[in-house]
Amino acid sequence: MQEPIYLDHAATTPLRPEALEAMLPYFSGVFGNPSSVHRFGRDAKAALEAARDALAARLGCSASELVFTSGGTESDNLALLGAALAAPEGRRKVVTTAVEHHAVLHAAEELERLGFEVVYLPVDATGRVDVDAARAAIDERAAVVSVMFGNNEVGTLQPIEAIGAMCRERGVPFHVDAVQALGHARIDLSRLPVDLMSFSAHKVGGPKGVGLLYARRRVKLHARSFGGSQERSRRPGTENVAGAVGFAAAAGLACDALEARTAELASLREAMLAVFARELAPDAFVVNGHPTERLPHVLNVSFPGASTESVLMNLDLEGIAAASGSACSSGSLRPSHVLLAMGLPEERVRSAVRFSFGEGNCLKSVTFAAEKVATIVRRLTYK
Ligand SMILES: Cc1ncc(COP(=O)(O)O)c(C=O)c1O
Repeated sequence: MQEPIYLDHAATTPLRPEALEAMLPYFSGVFGNPSSVHRFGRDAKAALEAARDALAARLGCSASELVFTSGGTESDNLALLGAALAAPEGRRKVVTTAVEHHAVLHAAEELERLGFEVVYLPVDATGRVDVDAARAAIDERAAVVSVMFGNNEVGTLQPIEAIGAMCRERGVPFHVDAVQALGHARIDLSRLPVDLMSFSAHKVGGPKGVGLLYARRRVKLHARSFGGSQERSRRPGTENVAGAVGFAAAAGLACDALEARTAELASLREAMLAVFARELAPDAFVVNGHPTERLPHVLNVSFPGASTESVLMNLDLEGIAAASGSACSSGSLRPSHVLLAMGLPEERVRSAVRFSFGEGNCLKSVTFAAEKVATIVRRLTYK
């Protein structure tokens, strides 16, 4: 049996050995609570702040603008709920998109229950948000606007600079979920018109259960949990020191090699598509998402006539891990809200598979996997 091939890096990534190495001392010798004033605490605090400084330097912001959280979900929740609940009276509208991650969509639903109006901006067939719809929705009643950097299911990049500029004009805090973008797109917060940005360590070769929320100085944010004064009271609770250290180590490596990695990931994506083009009929596969404005590591393809579940199960039997973008509930896949929002025909939605590339993938293994996909699809669609 060949080695398993992991093509699901948008779900999570393997921990980088350098990140593990950097974290180990904080699971043993350096165990202090960073809030303690004695030497043990000060050592832990120094590591935590060094990690924060390193991440701030990478992101182009000040260390005091970074809040450590438990991951992308908590960062998204804190951004939406925190900004909406801190908004002045009269601003009771939340503007987001139909293709956000559930960490944003379900936070928006909670705000709806709390009496906010929520506007879900539509997207076109490639998953791009309609900028005119955004212009119409972002007005003096908006409390917060949330638009993701790049989509986790199809990879489409959003026009965040244009939408951020509208938010600036109208004085509305702008949140961007950049969980999938970190390490795959240049992010310079000193130049972006963004007030809040979410990140997660385990998508860039860091550990699970640690994330970041960038909150621009002077942006008002209500805390969502209550306790000590850690993270300037924006996110109380003893910090995950080892997690923060591992996050900084992994993000540093991911950002350092950005251009080279992007080119490598693009070549893997092209190699997979070249195999499909060679092995399958032209109408047997169709790529979902934007052809150029997209994250380099995500490839979403529909195989009309083959169901997502069958393709994934057959691939799994061959030791190849891919994904559907959609949520799995009680063993059956719900159709993806992203593909539905893109207005794709049902057949394309029901047969979509997401391949996402990263560390450990090479041309040989991706080509091998693509050939297996083609064989499986031919078998499933044989009439
Ligand atoms: C775009 C996006 N936002 C948020 C999250 C949630 O991040 P976490 O798993 O760290 O809670 C994910 C993870 O799948 C994601 O892809």
